[in-house]
Amino acid sequence: MASYTVTALGILCTFGLVSCQFVSLGSCPEVKLQENFDLDRYLGKWYENRRYANWFSLFSNCVTAEYTKLSETSVKVNNTGWLYLSNESDTAIGNAIVQEGAKLGVRFSEFSPYGNYWVLSTDYTSHSIVWSCEESPKGAIQFNSQLLWILSRSPEGLSETELDRLFDILHGYGINTDIRKLKPTKQTNCFGRSINM
Ligand SMILES: *[C@@H]1O[C@H](CO)[C@@H](O)[C@H](O)[C@H]1NC(C)=O
Ligand SMILES: *[C@@H]1O[C@H](CO)[C@@H](O)[C@H](O)[C@H]1NC(C)=O
Repeated sequence: MASYTVTALGILCTFGLVSCQFVSLGSCPEVKLQENFDLDRYLGKWYENRRYANWFSLFSNCVTAEYTKLSETSVKVNNTGWLYLSNESDTAIGNAIVQEGAKLGVRFSEFSPYGNYWVLSTDYTSHSIVWSCEESPKGAIQFNSQLLWILSRSPEGLSETELDRLFDILHGYGINTDIRKLKPTKQTNCFGRSINM
């Protein structure tokens, strides 16, 4: 999202014209990224366990992301979900590039800029925390817009203990994990999936 969009949203939000899910006051929080990020171990299929409410996946559940290596720094992204209003599957094919360490960029059209895809924490075998933050230009009032996903390797998700540990990491950076903002993604009774039907 371009920063002027963030500013515009921030202003509309301040005056109560739009839902303020996407924008908060202040600059982006400082975070640590996953050290020694290993792309090869990160590839394959992930299940969306939780996400910030966002306009591009408002009405989908059963969301998976599959990453396939194209080169040392480029990955094919296949995001597939189920649109529960129209009862049909929805796939977005994109491309991710490794920018530096665990900082990746992802886009779903060759005409759009890469959006941030920062891996804050992953153990490659059970969880990943993916985060992005955009800031409005420095000015009198600063806004930021964050996106957050928790992914799991298993459609069954994560244990309470593991989730608590991930929430602790996020709270340490001042990142909001309120259930009204970070919503669980339904991964049960997914059509066409033999597991967990
Ligand atoms: C994307 O993933 C879905 C679900 O796993 C699969 O059915 C579909 O064939 C994949 N599409 C491409 C182009 O890879
Ligand atoms: C939704 O689509 C699935 C898979 O195509 C089908 O089995 C199911 O009957 C549909 N449900 C409704 C309510 O139409």
